[in-house]
Amino acid sequence: MNSKELIATASSMVATGKGLLAMDESNPTCNKRFAAAGIPQTEEARRRYRELIVTTPGLGEFISGVILYDETIRQSRKEGTPFLKVLADAGVIPGIKVDTGAKDLAGFPSEKVTEGLDGLPARVREYAGMGARFAKWRAVIAIGASIPSEACIDANAHALARYAAICQEAGLVPIVEPEVVMDGPHDLENCLEVTGRVLHAVFNQLHVQRILLEGMILKPNMVLPGKDCQASPDPGQVADATVRCLLRSVPAAVAGIAFLSGGQSGELACARLNAMNIRFAGKMPWPLTFSFARAIQHRALDIWSGQDATVKAAQKALVHRAECSRAARLGQYTDKMERA
Ligand code: 13P
Repeated sequence: MNSKELIATASSMVATGKGLLAMDESNPTCNKRFAAAGIPQTEEARRRYRELIVTTPGLGEFISGVILYDETIRQSRKEGTPFLKVLADAGVIPGIKVDTGAKDLAGFPSEKVTEGLDGLPARVREYAGMGARFAKWRAVIAIGASIPSEACIDANAHALARYAAICQEAGLVPIVEPEVVMDGPHDLENCLEVTGRVLHAVFNQLHVQRILLEGMILKPNMVLPGKDCQASPDPGQVADATVRCLLRSVPAAVAGIAFLSGGQSGELACARLNAMNIRFAGKMPWPLTFSFARAIQHRALDIWSGQDATVKAAQKALVHRAECSRAARLGQYTDKMERA
């Protein structure tokens, strides 16, 4: 394992003023979003959409790295330039989603365990050979009446650590993503308790399996009430609960923390990340940035709608959200940016 290289890659992924863009939707997820926007669910439509993203002018000013999907990492612009070359020219580091999805956890109805460990060393070596420098694995933890169970948390924590070890051995920085999802009526306190429990289990496994913490990125959820909860905490309350939780459970050696957006709007995700970076400036041992998918892409996808004529307008919307996210990462985001 080349620790120096892992540490250098991890720190450039969370470089000041930048964050990550997740564009690694699996084909079924991408197709679902296309269907909702009235876009044909074909390989060519997915390629055109991903071309729109990677060729967005100015993307590299705000985005340090993008997370790709197996289909996407092998694709090219219409005129033939591989996406990996387009990204390299823009100074953007390519990464790859390597899990194969969250599947039903046997014996635990309504809970999931993420799969993809079988054959992972060979797949990771192939991606590293193609030029990927980091990887992502997402675990899904739901909150409900008597869930999450210990079994669900432990199975996912174990798989995340096994994945992280395999990546580091092949020279890829693992993004470790234990997502406590927003589905349900639970409140913020409940999410705080569960997120803390999950992070403790994950870092215990990362320690047991000898992960180099300086060469990994944590991708957590923000601590939020569920979608069906009546309460709507202000960004300061979310910031306090989230950072309190992270300070209690994430070792200082971790290279950086990059949040998922989890279904929040782009504006809310930015306001909350911004509040964390203002209220806890100088008090956190790790950089706090973003690794958003929907909070950056959502509006651009709607504007594009599969039409060539709207590519430029969609790219403008995409880069605007990337710029707002960068501002939030610096604690410089304001509502005014949304009216510009
Ligand atoms: P969202 O920002 O849409 O939650 O996606 C982030 C991600 O990469 C999920 O794995």
